[in-house]
Amino acid sequence: MSGKDYSKYFIAPDLKEAKKRGKEDIQVLQFDQIPQEMQGIGSGKKYMIETYGCQMNVHDSETIAGILEQMAYTRTESHQDADIILLNTCAIRENAEDKVFGHIGSLKALKTEKPDLILGVCGCMSQEESVVSRILQKHQHVDLIFGTHNIHRLPYLLFNALMSKEMVVEVWSKEGDVIENMPKVRADGLRAWVNIMYGCDKFCTYCIVPYTRGKERSRRPEDVLNEIRDLARLGYQEITLLGQNVNAYGKDFHDITYRFGDLMDDVRKIGIPRVRFTTSHPRDFDDHLIEVLAKKGNLVEHIHLPVQSGSSEVLKLMARKYDRERYLELVAKLKKAIPDVVLTTDIIVGFPGETEEQFAETISLVKEVEYDMAFTFIYSPRDGTPAAKMKDDVPMEVKKRRLAELNDVLNEISKKKNALLQGRVVEVLVEGESKKNPDVLSGRTRTNKLVNFVGPKHLIGKMVYVSIEKAQTWTLKGKWVEEISKSPVA
Ligand code: 5AD
Ligand code: SF4
Repeated sequence: MSGKDYSKYFIAPDLKEAKKRGKEDIQVLQFDQIPQEMQGIGSGKKYMIETYGCQMNVHDSETIAGILEQMAYTRTESHQDADIILLNTCAIRENAEDKVFGHIGSLKALKTEKPDLILGVCGCMSQEESVVSRILQKHQHVDLIFGTHNIHRLPYLLFNALMSKEMVVEVWSKEGDVIENMPKVRADGLRAWVNIMYGCDKFCTYCIVPYTRGKERSRRPEDVLNEIRDLARLGYQEITLLGQNVNAYGKDFHDITYRFGDLMDDVRKIGIPRVRFTTSHPRDFDDHLIEVLAKKGNLVEHIHLPVQSGSSEVLKLMARKYDRERYLELVAKLKKAIPDVVLTTDIIVGFPGETEEQFAETISLVKEVEYDMAFTFIYSPRDGTPAAKMKDDVPMEVKKRRLAELNDVLNEISKKKNALLQGRVVEVLVEGESKKNPDVLSGRTRTNKLVNFVGPKHLIGKMVYVSIEKAQTWTLKGKWVEEISKSPVA
């Protein structure tokens, strides 16, 4: 697509460029004030953001909302009412992409009906050349495409899209710097996402993320800690530290030695009742971090530890940089240091060439670790990744059968694990009314299990004790015991 000048606002993605990892230090920049002439642009107008994919995208959408609200737009959940619709997309598997393309297609009628509507595509899919060229060829009703590295440029890009008849495309293939103080509209006053780092340098052979999210860049500890202190002051009860590979936090600092374990040790001292993190890479999970997590307090006893496969041969082809034995050693260390730890994981079945024996090793590992929950996926080839070029002779029916078999084993374990909680009293952060029944409240335990119970509405937003009466595969049913009067962290 190079050489074709679609408009003066055209910077297209390039996966080969995105693969390069520069040596230069990351700069920390402050988010600029939105220029005066752009601040009122959204007055009387509405925006809608549709978010696909992981928590990183959910949090990016909170930033996008923050920027749009500083431009005076207000939020709507209705396509009909929206003056801007932004699709914040996910590239991790093909079916995620198919969903987005289907939706872009279906929005064409609305765009014809409302020609002033701005339809934008952002997130990980925008970082892929093939996606941008498909939109340019088949979906000319899209007005704006921007990527994951230039969200802070949204005011300018939107301004250009409003002024221009051409599609505005600005996707940076090289990651930008770390931008602090971006405005954010958080979903509720209870739980908040906090980025600690961006990007991923692991290059697992199946994964598109290192290309769409750029090289690992850590936020400075003082910036992370100040953000968490502010959230604590505002009354947030739970934070989740976010990064594609949080265990690599701080590896890119050249002036200080300060890693994820150090950060967790400092976060532990902040008066916020619960601290989670996602997602971990087993390779970088060090002993200091285990030692800190074992101190518990506000650091919850739940670790999401993606394994991907139980076969050392498959792990090697995936370039995960650990084998079955090392993973199991880490699990043993964690269970020893934190006896009530709940482990959850991600697993891919049907990686190119995966044999029946190799799949059986995944099943046996799952049984050995006894995960409380797992996200399971059929391998999906991603253009530009090394695994997409590997020979794959495993038929799709076999992959589907393996997925179903794995899920059956996992469900049995979850049921068994949840049954152990029957009769126990657990701490629950009450999130709101249950989706199915407004007379029932629902919330989560420290280990992220969903609990439904009957109780007065004033408990919403509070930390309470609930006695578990019935365990199901996915949820727990309980009885309200009492409100926890003071924050569990002194
Ligand atoms: N195919 C299937 N699953 C994938 N994941 C990442 N890339 C792929 C892919 N190409 C899964 C991994 C990862 C989770 C977020 O998504 O299990 O941990
Ligand atoms: Fe993808 Fe591997 Fe990085 Fe996770 S650690 S984002 S699976 S490359």
